[in-house]
Parts: sequence; C-alpha cells; structure tokens
Amino acid sequence: MARILQLTDLHLVAPGVLVSSVLDTGALLRDAVDLLLKLLPQIGPLDAVLVTGDVSDDGSPESYVAARGALDRLGLPLLVVPGNHDDRENLRAAFGDMAGMPQNGLIDWSVDVAGTPVIGLDTLVEGQGGGLLRPESLALLATALERAGTHDVLIALHHPPIRTGIRFMDAIGLANADALAEILNEFDGTARIVAGHVHGVYQGRIGRHTVLAAPSVCSAFALDCRADAPVGFMTGPRGCAVIDTAPDGAWTTIPLESANGPFSF
Ligand SMILES: [Fe+2]
Repeated sequence: MARILQLTDLHLVAPGVLVSSVLDTGALLRDAVDLLLKLLPQIGPLDAVLVTGDVSDDGSPESYVAARGALDRLGLPLLVVPGNHDDRENLRAAFGDMAGMPQNGLIDWSVDVAGTPVIGLDTLVEGQGGGLLRPESLALLATALERAGTHDVLIALHHPPIRTGIRFMDAIGLANADALAEILNEFDGTARIVAGHVHGVYQGRIGRHTVLAAPSVCSAFALDCRADAPVGFMTGPRGCAVIDTAPDGAWTTIPLESANGPFSF
C-alpha cells in the first residue's frame, strides 16, 4: 500500500512576481518544502508526491522550472495532473520524465505506486476556469479500473466532482461529474478521488466512492455561501495532505502554518 504526499494549487509564477500583487507563491512553496523536509521523520515513509493541478498560476515556462526545482528537494517521485491555470505543454516540458507522462495530448496517466493503482486525469480546458473530462480521459479511466478489478484505486484530478457551496468556485467546477460517476458505477473496487482547485478541505462522494479536496499550498477561499460573497482569496489556512491507500488508511491534512508545541498533557 502506498503513502503519498498530496500538494495542490501551488500557483507559481516567474521568480520575483507576486500573484494578484499579494502572494509570493515561490516563497510559499519553498517554505512549505522546508517545513515538510523537517516533518518527514514524523510523517513517515512516503512513496511519491502527487500534485493535483495549478502547479503554475500563469502557465509560464519559468513557473514550471521554479516548481520543479522546489518539488525535487523532497527527493520523491513526482506525479502531476494539470489544473485550469496550467499550460499543458509547459507543464509537460518540466515534468516530462514523470512516470506515465504521455508524450503528447491530454496529461492522463495510470501508474502503480507501491502496489496501488493511481490514475491521473486531465480536466484542463484552456481559457476557462471550469473543468471537463473528455472521452479519451474517461476511456483511460475505464481501462485502468477494469485492470484493477476489485483492488482499491486512487484517482487524482484537479476539479473535484463535488460542490463547495461557494458560488464563484462551484461556477467553475467539473462540468461532467455524471460521466465520471457512470464509469465508477461499473467498478467493483473502491476508489478514493483526490482533488484540489477549491483551496480547502472538502469531503464528499460520487456514488459509493469518496472525494477529498486538499488545501492549497498558497491560499484559501472563505466558506462564504452568500449569493453576493466577495470573489477573492484568503492568505490561509494553507496546507497539504497525506494519503495512506491501505483499506484502513486515512487521508489527512498537514497545516503549512507554524504552531507551538507539542506541550505535555
Ligand atoms: Fe484551479
């Protein structure tokens, strides 16, 4: 069974640029990696780092070079799916040596991580915030699930197939969650679906399968479900997640904020 560190929504830009004139996402990623390297002995062995999209904010080649440099410090195999902010070809250029990375077309892949089938699905539609699963991605998923038989699988995609209640985020959700549900309904095993995009912790389900969205490395969205909720981001809480794919294993988050302790009881 695999233990995987999930990082999501890094939103890197070229060094020296601030996202929305506020966030130094390069520094936030470096700080996150510094903290994680310190925590690794506590977290325990990991088999891979899975990045569930929005590696870049502007899609620039420089942003991917910066992301790759920071992520490589973790010393673990990298798995990446694109998000709505990503540029597919610039991402592929920086992560071309990744296991399962297709040489062209959509960045869908299916790999084995320590005995767990892990399937990455590309939901990026250039020029828009919302996501979509194309027929070829759904076909790859169906084939991978057929191969998995009754084994549990991990599925990674950027846009979670669940609602948050935040209107401006739900407006750019996954357009065809029903198509995903249809394929999962045919699956005899259990899938855990991990996502990003919503910059916060959300748990839901699709059929009998669990959907989990992880916090972002760089920012968050307030849970503001009012119709006139201000559209914008918060500087935190920031975080990442650890996935244990064993049947009794958990998905949990690690806050990327400093806290004091542990204090004895
Ligand atoms: Fe996103």
